[in-house]
Amino acid sequence: MGGLKHVAFIMDGNGRWATAKGEPRLNGHKEGAKAMENLVPYAFSRGATVLSFYAFSTENWSRPKGEVNGILSLLMLLLKRNFKFLMENDIKLMVSGDLSPLSESRKRRITDAIEKTKDNTKTVNILFNYGGKSDILHAFKGLVEKGITNPTERDFEAELYTKELPPVDLLIRTGGEKRLSNFMLWQSAYTELYFTDVLWPDFTKSDLDEAICWFEGRSRRYGGIK
Ligand code: FPP
Repeated sequence: MGGLKHVAFIMDGNGRWATAKGEPRLNGHKEGAKAMENLVPYAFSRGATVLSFYAFSTENWSRPKGEVNGILSLLMLLLKRNFKFLMENDIKLMVSGDLSPLSESRKRRITDAIEKTKDNTKTVNILFNYGGKSDILHAFKGLVEKGITNPTERDFEAELYTKELPPVDLLIRTGGEKRLSNFMLWQSAYTELYFTDVLWPDFTKSDLDEAICWFEGRSRRYGGIK
């Protein structure tokens, strides 16, 4: 599949999915986690090598405590449930964002999984406590710390949370909104943006096929002329 290395997902619509069924919002996130697990092997089989998932933004702390805690627990559960799958399928776990608010034991479990999978070749990148602006600021501080006063783009990228990842080729946002919501602002400079009304828990392999088919029809000029 020409040119499609990095696919990113803004998994929007979990809350509405649950509310429409008269269920608590957290059930929507649980179902969303299942949709994610279902899509990962399929997206790799379609040729992608990096998958990024926006799981929790720097702004999501303003949600009710129960929902925040529920999403945090889900992150840990997903890790536990899928660690073996990651190892057996040559997938590296990456977590982009500021892990410092997490408890020591949660941080340790995450960094342990990152360490154990680090030599694998494909990547699942979870954006957790992540914001595009905070990523840029984090990179800026990294440059200052290193005393780099005249950085190149490459120097700057080396300080981003997502440092070794290729730029995002295709961003899929479910749930009907057409905005970036502070998602990978630097990394999506030339990203093809795909929006669908499908709510994240309902997003299936055939919806991904549709998005990839749309992507393949795009003419990517990167500011040049074809
Ligand atoms: C946006 O839907 C979704 C989130 C803020 C959380 C995404 C989390 C998961 C899919 C859970 C599993 C993944 C990890 C790695 C923890 P929304 O709540 O804004 O939906 P709404 O717009 O319908 O309210």
